[in-house]
Amino acid sequence: MILVTGASGKVGSEAARLLDAQRQPTRVLVRDASRAPHADVEIATGDFERPDTLDAAMRGIETVILVSPAVPAQEIAVIASAVRQGVRHIVKITSKASADSPVERRRGQAQIEVYLETSGLSYTLLRANAYMQNLLALAPTIKQSRGFLMSAGDGQVGMIDARDVAATAAKVVAEPTAHAGRAYWLTGPELITYNDVAKELSGALGYTVEYRQTTPTEHLSAMVRAGVPETVATSNAQAFGLIAEGDAAWLSDEFAAVTGTTPRSLRTFIADHIAAFTERLTPASIGPLRTR
Ligand SMILES: NC(=O)c1ccc[n+]([C@@H]2O[C@H](COP(=O)([O-])OP(=O)(O)OC[C@H]3O[C@@H](n4cnc5c(N)ncnc54)[C@H](OP(=O)(O)O)[C@@H]3O)[C@@H](O)[C@H]2O)c1
Repeated sequence: MILVTGASGKVGSEAARLLDAQRQPTRVLVRDASRAPHADVEIATGDFERPDTLDAAMRGIETVILVSPAVPAQEIAVIASAVRQGVRHIVKITSKASADSPVERRRGQAQIEVYLETSGLSYTLLRANAYMQNLLALAPTIKQSRGFLMSAGDGQVGMIDARDVAATAAKVVAEPTAHAGRAYWLTGPELITYNDVAKELSGALGYTVEYRQTTPTEHLSAMVRAGVPETVATSNAQAFGLIAEGDAAWLSDEFAAVTGTTPRSLRTFIADHIAAFTERLTPASIGPLRTR
């Protein structure tokens, strides 16, 4: 049986849906059962902060797709529970982790990866570039003001649709031993700037969407004013500043190598999510903006 954590989130919900479609015995871990994905899967309610709920969710599990906000103590608790419960393989969703990154979230990812590597479990790392789904957080401002604020300058991003990260995870868990010890760098098919995002949205929406460039410091304040938790806003602003410097301008063909398919383009992502940019949305329905 496969356990998907973070199953109410961007990658986890799609991974659960794909595993259900593949008829893979699957359990999802969610904090709130009402936020479980619409799929025919077992539901375990639990919290990364409560090891007893993790142990209950891990019972009888062979493989875990590990998605979380990447708070080191929390993910380490999940991995420790997996070891206790005899799990064989973990597929960890991660980013450009580095112990000396200026971005706290990436240092946290590096800490988690070290713990996983020394846990004795077999594992695969899915190291994704920024998700296209982050653009959904811009939808309310775009609807209000026909533009969005961003501090990524003219930096390019190998942006990937989170559904493709989920598709890679679903492929890996179908044959974990073939992917043991591997780290796959996942990107979309093209390098995209936020000017490109504005252009694509303009084409899809039929009016000009303006990219309002700002500095990471001003962007941080704006995100906090909009209700993004300060730690998340700080990491986001740092990541956007790095994007401006070219940090996310990388592409890889490893998605195609693992899945045998082509990653979704920005145009496809926007077409599939056009309702988010046209219909009334509440901030709660899209969640806080997180980058990597
Ligand atoms: N976003 C990006 O651009 C990006 C790019 C590359 C890599 N990544 C990596 O992807 C991973 C997930 O990020 P994301 O942005 O995809 O997050 P996300 O969609 O918000 O998913 C996070 C999930 O964790 C769950 N969760 C949070 N706190 C929990 C707790 N205490 N106990 C149990 N479940 C809890 C959330 O459930 P609730 O619904 O209950 O809150 C949600 O299902 C991170 O490792 C991140 O570094 C993200």
